[in-house]
Amino acid sequence: MAILVLGGAGYIGSHTALALLNAGRDVVVADSLKTGFRAAVPPAARFYQGDIRDRCFCDSLFEREQIDGVIHFAASSLVGESMSVPLRYYDNNLGGTRVLLESMTAHGVRDIVFSSSAAVYGEPERVPISETDRTLPTNCYGDTKLAIERMMKWTASAHGLRYVALRYFNACGAQPGGRMGEAHDPETHLIPLLLQVANGRREQVFIFGDDYPTPDGTCIRDYVHVCDLARAHILALDYLAAGGESGAFNLGSGAGFSVLQVLEEARRVTGYSIPAQIRPRRAGDPARLVASADRARAALGWVPEYGDLRVILQTAWDWHHTHPDGYGE
Ligand code: UFG
Repeated sequence: MAILVLGGAGYIGSHTALALLNAGRDVVVADSLKTGFRAAVPPAARFYQGDIRDRCFCDSLFEREQIDGVIHFAASSLVGESMSVPLRYYDNNLGGTRVLLESMTAHGVRDIVFSSSAAVYGEPERVPISETDRTLPTNCYGDTKLAIERMMKWTASAHGLRYVALRYFNACGAQPGGRMGEAHDPETHLIPLLLQVANGRREQVFIFGDDYPTPDGTCIRDYVHVCDLARAHILALDYLAAGGESGAFNLGSGAGFSVLQVLEEARRVTGYSIPAQIRPRRAGDPARLVASADRARAALGWVPEYGDLRVILQTAWDWHHTHPDGYGE
Protein backbone atom coordinates (compact mmCIF):
# COMPACT_ATOMS: atom_id res chain seq x y z
CA MET A 1 0.00 0.00 0.00
CA ALA A 2 1.22 3.48 -0.86
CA ILE A 3 0.81 7.05 0.36
CA LEU A 4 -0.33 9.51 -2.30
CA VAL A 5 1.34 12.93 -1.98
CA LEU A 6 -0.60 15.49 -4.00
CA GLY A 7 1.50 18.57 -4.70
CA GLY A 8 4.61 16.53 -3.95
CA ALA A 9 6.78 18.62 -6.31
CA GLY A 10 6.30 21.71 -4.13
CA TYR A 11 8.37 22.89 -1.18
CA ILE A 12 6.70 21.14 1.76
CA GLY A 13 5.32 18.31 -0.39
CA SER A 14 8.74 17.26 -1.71
CA HIS A 15 10.26 17.28 1.78
CA THR A 16 7.36 15.16 3.03
CA ALA A 17 7.72 12.69 0.15
CA LEU A 18 11.39 12.27 1.06
CA ALA A 19 10.60 11.84 4.77
CA LEU A 20 8.04 9.16 3.91
CA LEU A 21 10.54 7.30 1.74
CA ASN A 22 13.17 7.55 4.49
CA ALA A 23 10.59 6.06 6.86
CA GLY A 24 10.26 3.08 4.52
CA ARG A 25 6.88 4.01 3.01
CA ASP A 26 5.87 3.43 -0.60
CA VAL A 27 5.23 6.86 -2.14
CA VAL A 28 3.24 8.08 -5.13
CA VAL A 29 3.58 11.77 -6.03
CA ALA A 30 1.11 13.68 -8.21
CA ASP A 31 1.61 17.29 -9.22
CA SER A 32 0.46 19.57 -12.03
CA LEU A 33 3.97 21.12 -12.15
CA LYS A 34 2.36 24.55 -12.51
CA THR A 35 4.31 25.80 -9.50
CA GLY A 36 6.18 22.64 -8.45
CA PHE A 37 9.38 21.25 -9.92
CA ARG A 38 9.85 17.74 -11.33
CA ALA A 39 13.43 17.78 -10.02
CA ALA A 40 12.15 18.24 -6.46
CA VAL A 41 10.37 14.87 -6.51
CA PRO A 42 12.54 12.21 -4.87
CA PRO A 43 13.58 9.64 -7.52
CA ALA A 44 12.24 6.70 -5.47
CA ALA A 45 8.67 8.05 -5.65
CA ARG A 46 6.38 7.09 -8.58
CA PHE A 47 5.34 10.31 -10.30
CA TYR A 48 2.16 11.29 -12.17
CA GLN A 49 1.62 14.70 -13.74
CA GLY A 50 -1.93 16.05 -13.62
CA ASP A 51 -4.42 18.39 -12.02
CA ILE A 52 -6.69 17.28 -9.16
CA ARG A 53 -9.57 19.30 -10.64
CA ASP A 54 -9.62 16.61 -13.34
CA ARG A 55 -11.80 13.79 -11.95
CA CYS A 56 -10.42 11.29 -14.48
CA PHE A 57 -6.89 12.06 -13.29
CA CYS A 58 -7.83 11.52 -9.62
CA ASP A 59 -9.72 8.31 -10.44
CA SER A 60 -6.78 7.00 -12.45
CA LEU A 61 -4.45 7.44 -9.45
CA PHE A 62 -6.72 5.42 -7.18
CA GLU A 63 -7.26 2.79 -9.86
CA ARG A 64 -3.60 2.32 -10.82
CA GLU A 65 -2.12 2.49 -7.33
CA GLN A 66 -3.03 0.85 -4.04
CA ILE A 67 -3.46 4.03 -1.95
CA ASP A 68 -4.19 3.82 1.76
CA GLY A 69 -3.66 7.45 2.68
CA VAL A 70 -3.52 10.85 0.98
CA ILE A 71 -1.42 13.88 1.90
CA HIS A 72 -2.82 16.90 0.13
CA PHE A 73 -0.59 19.91 -0.63
CA ALA A 74 -1.98 20.65 -4.11
CA ALA A 75 -3.06 24.29 -3.88
CA SER A 76 -2.23 27.85 -4.85
CA SER A 77 -0.51 29.44 -1.88
CA LEU A 78 0.39 33.08 -2.44
CA VAL A 79 -1.49 35.37 -0.09
CA GLY A 80 -1.06 38.52 -2.23
CA GLU A 81 -2.05 36.77 -5.45
CA SER A 82 -5.15 35.33 -3.76
CA MET A 83 -6.38 38.89 -3.19
CA SER A 84 -6.09 39.87 -6.85
CA VAL A 85 -7.44 36.65 -8.41
CA PRO A 86 -9.73 35.21 -5.68
CA LEU A 87 -11.85 33.12 -8.04
CA ARG A 88 -8.75 31.29 -9.25
CA TYR A 89 -8.05 30.37 -5.62
CA TYR A 90 -11.59 29.09 -5.04
CA ASP A 91 -11.38 27.12 -8.28
CA ASN A 92 -7.97 25.58 -7.69
CA ASN A 93 -8.03 25.07 -3.91
CA LEU A 94 -11.69 24.49 -3.12
CA GLY A 95 -12.71 23.08 -6.51
CA GLY A 96 -9.68 20.79 -6.65
CA THR A 97 -10.28 19.44 -3.15
CA ARG A 98 -13.97 18.84 -3.89
CA VAL A 99 -13.06 16.65 -6.88
CA LEU A 100 -10.39 14.87 -4.84
CA LEU A 101 -12.79 14.09 -1.99
CA GLU A 102 -15.40 12.79 -4.46
CA SER A 103 -12.82 10.52 -6.01
CA MET A 104 -11.49 9.33 -2.62
CA THR A 105 -15.03 8.60 -1.44
CA ALA A 106 -15.85 6.69 -4.64
CA HIS A 107 -12.72 4.56 -4.23
CA GLY A 108 -13.11 3.91 -0.50
CA VAL A 109 -9.94 5.83 0.45
CA ARG A 110 -10.62 7.12 3.93
CA ASP A 111 -7.64 8.99 5.38
CA ILE A 112 -6.38 12.43 4.35
CA VAL A 113 -3.82 14.78 5.87
CA PHE A 114 -4.41 18.29 4.59
CA SER A 115 -2.03 21.20 4.31
CA SER A 116 -3.83 24.03 6.12
CA SER A 117 -2.42 27.31 7.38
CA ALA A 118 -2.21 29.79 10.23
CA ALA A 119 -3.93 32.08 7.71
CA VAL A 120 -7.26 30.52 8.84
CA TYR A 121 -7.03 32.61 12.04
CA GLY A 122 -6.62 36.05 10.48
CA GLU A 123 -5.83 38.70 13.09
CA PRO A 124 -5.46 36.65 16.29
CA GLU A 125 -7.32 37.57 19.46
CA ARG A 126 -4.35 36.36 21.54
CA VAL A 127 -1.01 34.59 21.23
CA PRO A 128 -0.05 31.81 21.39
CA ILE A 129 -2.94 30.78 19.15
CA SER A 130 -4.89 27.61 19.94
CA GLU A 131 -6.97 25.58 17.52
CA THR A 132 -10.17 26.59 19.31
CA ASP A 133 -9.48 30.32 18.84
CA ARG A 134 -11.51 32.41 16.41
CA THR A 135 -11.00 31.65 12.73
CA LEU A 136 -11.62 34.76 10.64
CA PRO A 137 -9.28 34.83 7.63
CA THR A 138 -8.17 38.24 6.39
CA ASN A 139 -7.18 36.98 2.95
CA CYS A 140 -8.71 34.79 0.28
CA TYR A 141 -5.96 32.16 0.55
CA GLY A 142 -6.77 31.60 4.23
CA ASP A 143 -10.46 31.56 3.47
CA THR A 144 -10.02 28.72 0.96
CA LYS A 145 -8.02 26.73 3.55
CA LEU A 146 -10.73 27.20 6.17
CA ALA A 147 -13.46 26.29 3.69
CA ILE A 148 -11.57 23.10 2.81
CA GLU A 149 -11.36 22.18 6.50
CA ARG A 150 -15.13 22.58 6.70
CA MET A 151 -15.62 20.59 3.48
CA MET A 152 -13.64 17.73 5.00
CA LYS A 153 -15.67 17.94 8.21
CA TRP A 154 -19.00 17.54 6.41
CA THR A 155 -17.60 14.85 4.12
CA ALA A 156 -16.41 13.03 7.23
CA SER A 157 -19.87 13.01 8.76
CA ALA A 158 -21.59 12.01 5.50
CA HIS A 159 -19.11 9.53 4.03
CA GLY A 160 -16.76 8.41 6.82
CA LEU A 161 -13.75 10.41 5.59
CA ARG A 162 -11.10 10.80 8.31
CA TYR A 163 -8.88 13.86 8.21
CA VAL A 164 -6.17 15.84 9.90
CA ALA A 165 -5.76 19.50 8.92
CA LEU A 166 -2.26 20.73 9.77
CA ARG A 167 -2.20 24.50 10.26
CA TYR A 168 1.37 25.54 9.49
CA PHE A 169 2.80 28.75 10.77
CA ASN A 170 5.84 30.06 8.82
CA ALA A 171 7.39 27.13 6.98
CA CYS A 172 11.12 27.63 6.41
CA GLY A 173 14.50 25.91 6.18
CA ALA A 174 15.60 23.07 3.93
CA GLN A 175 16.61 19.43 3.99
CA PRO A 176 20.07 19.31 5.64
CA GLY A 177 22.66 18.52 2.99
CA GLY A 178 21.58 21.30 0.63
CA ARG A 179 20.02 19.14 -2.10
CA MET A 180 16.40 20.14 -1.57
CA GLY A 181 14.87 23.45 -0.53
CA GLU A 182 12.47 26.32 -1.05
CA ALA A 183 11.91 27.66 -4.57
CA HIS A 184 9.02 29.91 -5.52
CA ASP A 185 8.48 32.10 -8.54
CA PRO A 186 7.76 34.83 -7.72
CA GLU A 187 9.39 34.68 -4.27
CA THR A 188 7.49 36.60 -1.57
CA HIS A 189 8.69 34.99 1.67
CA LEU A 190 11.08 36.72 4.03
CA ILE A 191 13.82 34.12 4.50
CA PRO A 192 14.36 33.19 0.83
CA LEU A 193 14.32 36.91 -0.06
CA LEU A 194 17.01 37.65 2.54
CA LEU A 195 19.13 34.80 1.20
CA GLN A 196 18.67 35.97 -2.39
CA VAL A 197 20.18 39.31 -1.34
CA ALA A 198 23.09 37.45 0.28
CA ASN A 199 23.46 35.49 -2.98
CA GLY A 200 23.68 38.70 -5.00
CA ARG A 201 20.35 38.01 -6.76
CA ARG A 202 18.72 41.09 -5.22
CA GLU A 203 20.08 44.43 -4.13
CA GLN A 204 18.20 44.70 -0.85
CA VAL A 205 15.22 43.56 1.14
CA PHE A 206 12.27 45.71 2.16
CA ILE A 207 11.00 45.50 5.73
CA PHE A 208 7.26 45.92 5.68
CA GLY A 209 6.55 48.17 8.66
CA ASP A 210 8.50 49.08 11.81
CA ASP A 211 5.57 50.60 13.69
CA TYR A 212 3.86 47.43 14.91
CA PRO A 213 3.13 47.01 18.64
CA THR A 214 6.12 44.64 19.08
CA PRO A 215 9.44 45.25 20.93
CA ASP A 216 11.35 46.36 17.78
CA GLY A 217 8.29 47.47 15.79
CA THR A 218 8.51 44.69 13.16
CA CYS A 219 6.17 41.69 12.79
CA ILE A 220 6.73 38.57 14.83
CA ARG A 221 6.31 35.13 13.28
CA ASP A 222 6.67 31.52 14.37
CA TYR A 223 9.21 29.92 12.02
CA VAL A 224 8.84 26.16 11.76
CA HIS A 225 11.33 23.99 9.89
CA VAL A 226 10.11 22.12 6.81
CA CYS A 227 11.59 18.83 8.07
CA ASP A 228 9.59 19.18 11.29
CA LEU A 229 6.49 19.81 9.16
CA ALA A 230 7.28 16.75 7.02
CA ARG A 231 7.55 14.55 10.11
CA ALA A 232 4.22 15.84 11.41
CA HIS A 233 2.48 14.52 8.27
CA ILE A 234 3.78 11.01 8.90
CA LEU A 235 2.68 11.21 12.55
CA ALA A 236 -0.74 12.43 11.40
CA LEU A 237 -1.13 9.49 9.00
CA ASP A 238 -0.20 7.08 11.79
CA TYR A 239 -2.63 8.84 14.14
CA LEU A 240 -5.50 8.40 11.65
CA ALA A 241 -4.54 4.78 10.95
CA ALA A 242 -4.65 4.14 14.72
CA GLY A 243 -8.21 5.49 14.87
CA GLY A 244 -7.42 9.06 16.03
CA GLU A 245 -10.22 11.59 15.86
CA SER A 246 -10.40 13.95 12.86
CA GLY A 247 -9.45 17.56 13.55
CA ALA A 248 -7.09 20.50 13.12
CA PHE A 249 -3.63 20.85 14.64
CA ASN A 250 -1.32 23.86 14.77
CA LEU A 251 2.27 23.30 13.71
CA GLY A 252 4.65 25.93 15.02
CA SER A 253 7.71 26.03 17.22
CA GLY A 254 5.97 28.21 19.83
CA ALA A 255 8.76 30.81 19.58
CA GLY A 256 8.33 34.18 17.89
CA PHE A 257 11.03 36.09 15.99
CA SER A 258 10.72 39.59 14.56
CA VAL A 259 11.64 40.51 11.00
CA LEU A 260 14.70 42.38 12.35
CA GLN A 261 15.80 39.37 14.41
CA VAL A 262 15.57 37.15 11.32
CA LEU A 263 17.54 39.73 9.30
CA GLU A 264 20.29 39.87 11.95
CA GLU A 265 20.54 36.08 12.11
CA ALA A 266 20.64 35.85 8.29
CA ARG A 267 23.54 38.34 8.30
CA ARG A 268 25.40 36.22 10.88
CA VAL A 269 24.79 32.90 9.11
CA THR A 270 25.68 34.11 5.60
CA GLY A 271 28.41 36.56 6.50
CA TYR A 272 26.86 39.13 4.12
CA SER A 273 25.60 42.57 5.13
CA ILE A 274 22.12 42.15 3.45
CA PRO A 275 21.02 45.78 2.98
CA ALA A 276 17.47 46.43 4.19
CA GLN A 277 15.09 49.36 3.88
CA ILE A 278 11.98 50.13 5.93
CA ARG A 279 8.82 50.36 3.86
CA PRO A 280 5.15 50.86 4.81
CA ARG A 281 3.21 47.94 6.25
CA ARG A 282 2.07 45.22 3.86
CA ALA A 283 -1.73 44.95 3.81
CA GLY A 284 -3.17 42.15 5.90
CA ASP A 285 -0.05 41.32 7.98
CA PRO A 286 -0.97 40.58 11.63
CA ALA A 287 1.57 41.99 14.12
CA ARG A 288 2.24 38.70 15.88
CA LEU A 289 1.54 35.08 14.95
CA VAL A 290 2.79 32.42 17.35
CA ALA A 291 1.39 28.91 17.68
CA SER A 292 0.44 26.84 20.61
CA ALA A 293 1.31 23.39 19.32
CA ASP A 294 0.18 21.64 22.52
CA ARG A 295 -2.53 19.69 20.71
CA ALA A 296 -0.09 18.31 18.11
CA ARG A 297 2.34 17.40 20.89
CA ALA A 298 -0.30 15.60 22.94
CA ALA A 299 -2.20 13.81 20.15
CA LEU A 300 0.47 13.23 17.50
CA GLY A 301 3.58 13.15 19.70
CA TRP A 302 5.05 15.93 17.53
CA VAL A 303 7.95 17.90 19.00
CA PRO A 304 9.85 20.21 16.63
CA GLU A 305 13.55 19.41 16.43
CA TYR A 306 14.70 22.60 14.68
CA GLY A 307 13.72 25.31 17.17
CA ASP A 308 16.95 27.24 16.74
CA LEU A 309 16.67 30.11 14.23
CA ARG A 310 20.38 29.84 13.38
CA VAL A 311 20.02 26.18 12.37
CA ILE A 312 16.89 26.98 10.36
CA LEU A 313 18.72 29.71 8.47
CA GLN A 314 21.84 27.58 8.03
CA THR A 315 19.89 24.77 6.33
CA ALA A 316 18.09 27.33 4.11
CA TRP A 317 21.42 28.99 3.25
CA ASP A 318 23.08 25.64 2.41
CA TRP A 319 20.34 25.19 -0.21
CA HIS A 320 20.21 28.75 -1.58
CA HIS A 321 23.96 29.12 -1.70
CA THR A 322 24.41 25.96 -3.75
CA HIS A 323 21.21 26.40 -5.83
CA PRO A 324 20.94 30.14 -6.58
CA ASP A 325 18.53 29.28 -9.43
CA GLY A 326 16.45 26.90 -7.32
CA TYR A 327 15.74 23.72 -9.30
CA GLY A 328 16.89 25.51 -12.43
CA GLU A 329 13.83 24.61 -14.53
N1 UFG B 1 8.32 40.53 5.18
C1 UFG B 1 9.07 41.67 4.97
N2 UFG B 1 9.63 41.85 3.75
C2 UFG B 1 9.47 40.97 2.73
C3 UFG B 1 8.71 39.80 2.96
C4 UFG B 1 8.14 39.62 4.20
O1 UFG B 1 9.23 42.51 5.85
O2 UFG B 1 10.00 41.21 1.64
C5 UFG B 1 7.73 40.35 6.51
C6 UFG B 1 6.22 40.24 6.44
O3 UFG B 1 5.64 41.49 6.53
C7 UFG B 1 5.94 39.33 7.65
C8 UFG B 1 7.20 38.46 7.77
O4 UFG B 1 8.20 39.13 7.02
O5 UFG B 1 5.85 40.11 8.79
C9 UFG B 1 7.00 37.09 7.19
O6 UFG B 1 6.46 37.23 5.89
P1 UFG B 1 6.33 36.00 4.88
O7 UFG B 1 5.78 36.56 3.60
O8 UFG B 1 7.59 35.24 4.83
O9 UFG B 1 5.26 35.07 5.58
P2 UFG B 1 3.80 35.45 6.11
O10 UFG B 1 3.88 35.52 7.59
O11 UFG B 1 3.20 36.59 5.41
O12 UFG B 1 3.00 34.20 5.57
C10 UFG B 1 2.99 32.98 6.21
C11 UFG B 1 2.84 31.87 5.19
C12 UFG B 1 1.52 31.97 4.49
C13 UFG B 1 0.42 32.04 5.51
C14 UFG B 1 0.68 33.15 6.50
C15 UFG B 1 -0.34 33.17 7.60
O13 UFG B 1 3.88 31.92 4.25
O14 UFG B 1 1.32 30.85 3.66
O15 UFG B 1 1.94 32.98 7.10
O16 UFG B 1 -0.58 34.48 7.95
F1 UFG B 1 -0.75 32.26 4.89
